[in-house]
Amino acid sequence: MILVTGATGHVGRAVVSLLSTRGEDVAAMVRNVAAAARLVPREVPLRVADYEDVPAVTAALAGIDSLVFIASDGEAGAVMRHHTNVIEAARKQRVRHITFTSIVDVDVGSSFYFAPVYQDAERRLADSGIPATVLRCGIYSDFILQYWLESGVDSGVLALPAGDGRVAPISRDDVAVAVTEAAVGRKPGSHYLVTGSQALGVAEIAASYSDATGTPLRYRPCSQDDYLMWTGKRLTAPWPRAFTTLCGSIAEGRYGRVSTDFASLTGRDPETFREFLVRSWRVGRPV
Ligand SMILES: NC(=O)c1ccc[n+]([C@@H]2O[C@H](COP(=O)([O-])OP(=O)(O)OC[C@H]3O[C@@H](n4cnc5c(N)ncnc54)[C@H](OP(=O)(O)O)[C@@H]3O)[C@@H](O)[C@H]2O)c1
Repeated sequence: MILVTGATGHVGRAVVSLLSTRGEDVAAMVRNVAAAARLVPREVPLRVADYEDVPAVTAALAGIDSLVFIASDGEAGAVMRHHTNVIEAARKQRVRHITFTSIVDVDVGSSFYFAPVYQDAERRLADSGIPATVLRCGIYSDFILQYWLESGVDSGVLALPAGDGRVAPISRDDVAVAVTEAAVGRKPGSHYLVTGSQALGVAEIAASYSDATGTPLRYRPCSQDDYLMWTGKRLTAPWPRAFTTLCGSIAEGRYGRVSTDFASLTGRDPETFREFLVRSWRVGRPV
């Protein structure tokens, strides 16, 4: 049986649906049963556990052959604890394969808020002795739309401390397809860099948005301090720091790589950022 964590989330529930449609023996790990009733297909069995609850996570992994571990989210210390709990439970329950969603920037020299969290998770996975496939996922197109582009619509200006850095956005739906293929294909020891097929500067991203939606938007690079102050008025901790240091990482060129690993895994190219925008517009509010 394949167990998918984060199964009420965007990526997790898409992976559950894809595995279920392919006829795989799949179960969904959730912490919120009411949300699962709305978001997880009825025929998929649930394993209920919060990542904080070590006995519940350990029980949830009993008899699981393959784990699709969608990374947790939130304050760095908590996320690190969540990842530790899941990997330790998988070791105890002798899970035979883990597919893990990591991030592109796991560089020890990076100031990105989440870089140490994912360095830690990847190290723990390697030390666990469990055969693992790691997908280092690029910045989600959905994230860029929700947190960058839509925040600039009123002023027509997208102010970010990303300098001349480039990103290769990939949609959450495509990430789910890559994760599913990696989980089914099971090539332990593999590392995949899951990015879009084009590295775009932030000015190009803003122009693409204007072009796809007819809403004028232009990029204005700003300082990290200004962005930290701006996000600090709008978002709760840790997001101002996380978003600001992510832009720092982009400015340092850590997110500009384009990989063909998505095509190798899935046999097709990922959706382009413009295609993603058009699709999001067609279906109405994207997130
Ligand atoms: N690359 C990027 O641009 C980017 C952007 C954002 C996030 N991410 C990462 O990618 C992951 C998947 O993205 P997504 O869009 O699918 O995220 P999402 O929709 O927020 O889903 C996160 C999932 O994690 C579950 N979760 C959170 N805390 C938990 C806990 N303590 N115990 C058990 N489950 C818990 C959530 O459960 P509930 O539904 O009960 O809350 C939800 O199912 C995120 O978790 C994050 O690590 C990447």
